[in-house]
Amino acid sequence: MKTFYITTPIYYPSSNLHIGNSYTTVAADAVARYKRMRGYDVMFLTGLDEHGQKIAQTAEKEGVTPQEHVDRICKSTKELWKLLNISYDKFIRTTDDYHVKSVQKIFKELYDKGEIYKSEYKGMYCTPCEAFWTKTQLVDGKCPDCGREVTEMSEEAYFFRLSKYADRLLELYKSNPDFLQPASRVNEMINNFIKPGLEDLCVSRTSVKWGIPVDFDPEHVIYVWIDALSNYITALGYGSDDDSLYKKYWPADVHLMAKDIVRFHSIIWPAILMALGEPLPKKIFAHGWLMFDGDKMSKSKGNVVDPVVLSERYSVDAIRYYLLKEIPFGADGSFTNRAFINRINSDLANDLGNLVSRSVSMAVKYFGGSIPQTREGGEYDDDLMSTAAQVKTEVEKYLDELQFAKALTSLWRLVSRANKYIDETSPWVLGKDESKKDRLACVIYNLCETLRIISVLLTPFMPQTAESIQKQIGVSENEVTWDSTQSFGVHKGSGISKAENLFPRLDTQKELEELQALLEKSNKQSAKAADEKPADEKEEKPQIDIDDFLKSELTVCRVTDCQKIEKADKLLKFTLFDGVSERTVVSGIAKYYSPDELKGHNVIVVTNLKPAKLRGVESNGMILSADTPDGGIKVVFADGIPAGSKLR
Ligand code: ME8
Ligand code: MG
Repeated sequence: MKTFYITTPIYYPSSNLHIGNSYTTVAADAVARYKRMRGYDVMFLTGLDEHGQKIAQTAEKEGVTPQEHVDRICKSTKELWKLLNISYDKFIRTTDDYHVKSVQKIFKELYDKGEIYKSEYKGMYCTPCEAFWTKTQLVDGKCPDCGREVTEMSEEAYFFRLSKYADRLLELYKSNPDFLQPASRVNEMINNFIKPGLEDLCVSRTSVKWGIPVDFDPEHVIYVWIDALSNYITALGYGSDDDSLYKKYWPADVHLMAKDIVRFHSIIWPAILMALGEPLPKKIFAHGWLMFDGDKMSKSKGNVVDPVVLSERYSVDAIRYYLLKEIPFGADGSFTNRAFINRINSDLANDLGNLVSRSVSMAVKYFGGSIPQTREGGEYDDDLMSTAAQVKTEVEKYLDELQFAKALTSLWRLVSRANKYIDETSPWVLGKDESKKDRLACVIYNLCETLRIISVLLTPFMPQTAESIQKQIGVSENEVTWDSTQSFGVHKGSGISKAENLFPRLDTQKELEELQALLEKSNKQSAKAADEKPADEKEEKPQIDIDDFLKSELTVCRVTDCQKIEKADKLLKFTLFDGVSERTVVSGIAKYYSPDELKGHNVIVVTNLKPAKLRGVESNGMILSADTPDGGIKVVFADGIPAGSKLR
């Protein structure tokens, strides 16, 4: 039997996964279901990436051990995947015993082969966070997590000889153009990472405790990527006594993920496998970000759309449909409440729901749910059948290419064709004329066959809806195999019965208000849960004297110019007139404002701040802005107050 091995990233444990995280799993699930229907022996892997300093810190805040913390989150993660009908075959946790052992073995093997060596790691260290950062990770020269000062520090560490794989990686991309998709990512990897020169990779830490110890040097903990990436093979028993699954399924057919971790999968992972002498995965596929109102959805920003809230009010399949239809796979996409409700109303209630409800109702009304075998062909039938055949081929092609939105667009072409067929054949007119009974039977039968085919092609995307259609048209399991969609004539014609409408139409305006209130409530609840932590854990600033405050010089400045800084997607470079002369200030607000929105405005600037270099640009001051409760940033404008005015 042909095998198919598909993976999602292993997720960092998070107490509220959102539909951004769910996107990858839902997409992988659609592929897994499709491949199973096509006769493949599928292995669909997902799981949790449970080690690292951050996780240990969160556990400490919550007053539990790291293991207790990840155990709890593992439970809620599995519940969410169950709710979303994720048909994974294996769920790996990096704290699983077999994974720990196998990672230690991999590390030792790489060390013995000379692929890993001991040296010194230098980086910027944030003492309160106990975390190392590279200079480029710092935000305004400070810790990107807590915003506090960092100091340069070094520790003994192991390094993986990543640098020596540059040529082999270039060769891999060249000789195997399908390895990394979408293709645009290939040049990004070459130009941004390989051409500038690959550096050896730090793969152990002594400052981190929550992780897999290096067994021959237990002061060291195996750091992040060897631990995490190896999951794709340890899950199959690689390096254990029983590696039969590894032999059966490896190399993976596709590793699916969002674009943020492509570099790790298309550079570090193949290099590790090359060093081990193991085969490489066949494909790395990266999709885009799911944004919410223009911003990347994330828990810390409080702009999370909770899949549990959505599925309770609508249905799991409405979520699955939205994720797979609304976002061209590979590009960034957006979730908006309005687009979601519109999709439900137009595609699901109007197009699909109506087709099912009209067809099944007529089968029951005219034939009591059993259509007589006398079938009389007529106009439009051939076109309906040939559309079905074309759509089947297209859905297969697009699913093979992981183009979910295109596959669904194609499938909806059949839905529309069938709705049009009803209008063209007007069964309600045929029903009034006893002599047209045979033709009527043919029309209703063809509609049931179309529904049967639609339901099968829909199964990878919306399994529950597919099942509910199949129940209504009364088909048995062997009538809904993938191959049965080849042609009409499979349905026995009997056992048809009406159930409730699949997707009731929503009152858009009312629904929008209620949905917004629901999501706000759920975001507030998670924020409140965070707030209820003991006071000493909240970031409270000490009281200061007026003299402390007066040390800052605050000046109204006019923005005479503002530009993006190349390759720094957070930063804007300002030329500011402070009443006397012009100065340059760099500010990390590029995600919130375009240069044109700021030019010509007056802003408030800390003008006696020590200069700092950001991405090679010297910044002389800081523009005042506010962190808004919804996670955004708003500049404090001072329009109307002349440039040069001092604040006090
Ligand atoms: O990166 N839009 O874990 P992670 C689309 N543990 N996809 C999103 C998303 C969004 N807004 N937010 C998250 C890690 N994702 C590592 C991976 S793999 C060996 C180790 C999805 O929890 C996306 O697939 O931060 C991303 O790659 C994945 O969640 C994991 O994110
Ligand atoms: Mg991430």
